[in-house]
Amino acid sequence: MGWALLGAGLLLALYTLLRHGLRRSPPLRDRPELRGRTAIVTGGSSGIGAATALELARCGARVVLATRNAPRGEAAARRIRTETGNAEVVFMQLDLASLRSVRAFATAFLRQEPHLHLLINNAGVSAGGTTEDGFSLPFQDYCDSKLANVLHARELATRLQGTQVTCYAVHPGFVNTELFRHTPLWLKPLFLPLAWLFFLDAAEGAQTSLHCATQEGLERFSGRYFADCRLQEPWPPARDDRLARALWEASERLVGLGEAGENPSPAPAAVGQ
Ligand SMILES: NC(=O)c1ccc[n+]([C@@H]2O[C@H](COP(=O)([O-])OP(=O)(O)OC[C@H]3O[C@@H](n4cnc5c(N)ncnc54)[C@H](OP(=O)(O)O)[C@@H]3O)[C@@H](O)[C@H]2O)c1
Repeated sequence: MGWALLGAGLLLALYTLLRHGLRRSPPLRDRPELRGRTAIVTGGSSGIGAATALELARCGARVVLATRNAPRGEAAARRIRTETGNAEVVFMQLDLASLRSVRAFATAFLRQEPHLHLLINNAGVSAGGTTEDGFSLPFQDYCDSKLANVLHARELATRLQGTQVTCYAVHPGFVNTELFRHTPLWLKPLFLPLAWLFFLDAAEGAQTSLHCATQEGLERFSGRYFADCRLQEPWPPARDDRLARALWEASERLVGLGEAGENPSPAPAAVGQ
């Protein structure tokens, strides 16, 4: 009996230590006033995006949930309207795996919305396969896409200098969301309990995006990388300005934009994760 109690006590102590070390909740923030502001949250139907949209709606913003699945997007918008009492939460269809859909979304948004103050580039997937434009989705490409996010913010900030438009790359932390729904079956018994015990919840995972999108005084850090609501130095390839420029130029070619193509003006503040 004594040994069993000692074992249980040690396990509890180990769990507390690990949880404290791995699952550091971001600091609480004062709620900013966002009435009269319009925000787009891509992938706002679940996880970190839904939590980000909920908090922006609580602050009074008009929030556009830009997501691919209409029933899930409509349901999330309804839920947020009910929970916050903010009627200005709407769903608009956007499938980021289709450039045709991206262009249709941009056209519809520009037609119906007079302003855009915040763009939260949140949507992401870790699944496999290819998009309709032939871009690959395997796991290694997911990791590469996160490096591309950081480089993109860096180059975008350079191009936005002097415009008062700022952008940031964020890491939300390890967050227990539907992102891991495609985890192989054999790995789930190990992975899911770990995620449940040690990962942040979606509201905690939204804090760094919200910090960058709404905190005043960060403007001089435009293009930089944030985690845990703090400025961080990413690893060297993510600080390579030549690589960032090459990525931008390759992206322009791949999506058919650039000097000769159409080039929609960017949003006042963009956050990518
Ligand atoms: N969870 C983590 O530990 C973690 C860590 C680092 C970075 N992140 C990043 O955080 C972001 C949010 O992820 P999450 O953890 O909240 O995952 P999630 O719960 O799976 O949410 C992802 C959202 O993106 C949407 N989405 C996926 N593909 C889309 C597409 N082609 N077009 C439009 N929307 C699409 C999903 O819509 P559906 O409802 O239609 O599926 C969903 O609303 C992602 O970029 C992810 O890579 C997460």
